[in-house]
Amino acid sequence: MSKLNIKNLIKSFPSMDRPAVNNVNLDIESGELVAFLGPSGCGKTTILKMITGLFQPDSGDIILDEQSLLKIPTEKRGVVMVFQNYLLFPYMNVNENVGFALKMKGVDKNIIDQKVKEMLELVKLPDIGLRKPKQLSGGQQQRVALARALISNPRILLLDEPLSNLDAHLRDEMRDLIVTIQQKLKVTTIFVTHDQEEAVLLADKIALIFDGELQNFTSPKNYYEKPKNIKAAKFFGGVNFINAKKDNHNLSTNIGTVHYKGENYTDLNEDNIITIRPENIKLSKNNDFNDNSFKGLIKSVIFSGTHTRYKIIVNDLELECSLQSVGLQDIKTDDTIYVHLPSDKIWAMNE
Ligand SMILES: Nc1ncnc2c1ncn2[C@@H]1O[C@H](COP(=O)(O)OP(=O)(O)O)[C@@H](O)[C@H]1O
Ligand SMILES: [Mg+2]
Repeated sequence: MSKLNIKNLIKSFPSMDRPAVNNVNLDIESGELVAFLGPSGCGKTTILKMITGLFQPDSGDIILDEQSLLKIPTEKRGVVMVFQNYLLFPYMNVNENVGFALKMKGVDKNIIDQKVKEMLELVKLPDIGLRKPKQLSGGQQQRVALARALISNPRILLLDEPLSNLDAHLRDEMRDLIVTIQQKLKVTTIFVTHDQEEAVLLADKIALIFDGELQNFTSPKNYYEKPKNIKAAKFFGGVNFINAKKDNHNLSTNIGTVHYKGENYTDLNEDNIITIRPENIKLSKNNDFNDNSFKGLIKSVIFSGTHTRYKIIVNDLELECSLQSVGLQDIKTDDTIYVHLPSDKIWAMNE
């Protein structure tokens, strides 16, 4: 079990006019499964490569269990990385690929054979030890790469977009396998993805990265309900944003005064933005709500099978609301409706 602290990490490339990784700070607890999430080119792989030692940072530090890794050679760091394109040794069979790290360390052949067998069982691939990588499917190669990484009992496991080259059903299977193995071995793991849904399904915590900068590092639930800024909220499908001013423990907006219960009230600037998930807004034809209730007009109603999505105009502002199943009966475009923003479900942000 190992904890990882990343401190003020910066890495630039001459070809870029901004740092590829710009002052990133992260504290990853022992045994955590953390997703690095962000669009292509935001610096995810570059951070992993600095953790393994493939890149040297320009400045900052990477500390594993209280010890800086920067002066420690790659092979002595206890960090293993599974690359996006697997990078298996093509001329070695599966057993030789998986046992490679132990062979390099001069471990006894019988012990290696036993360990290789255990690892292939762990990734649910027994009986293919004599095949060469080109005789395997993409999903199987991915599992072999994982077994090869895990055999050396790493302190940190780095997985670079492990699911992006797999088709949908294999992706689900591999995702479940990664979670099962991670929970069994309790190895501190960083998982890179550009897919928000994947990060949510898999991770204890998500580090959201844009343009080399860490936007937020928190639980998947917080990204939905308490995003740090509007960029993070939008990346997680946030659609409702209302400009607001602080007003004596409430928030004043151009749809009216909004009562607010968020614990961050004192940290808010004078001008801020309110967000609320579409599924947390309530609707009523009569004004059934005491608090944070605003009159609006239905602009559209879309039934999607599991939900019904409403667009509602409140004082020139468009809000989206999602109700389960068929939603409210007898509601159609141009009807008047009362929109309720429950005070414990709204969240205000500085930007
Ligand atoms: N070896 C390199 N030399 C020059 N530029 C690089 C190198 N590696 C990455 N970059 C640049 O750094 C930025 C971040 O890349 P990367 O970390 O691979 O992004 P991600 O993994 O998030 O898609 C990109 O603009 C990329 O072109
Ligand atoms: Mg990458």
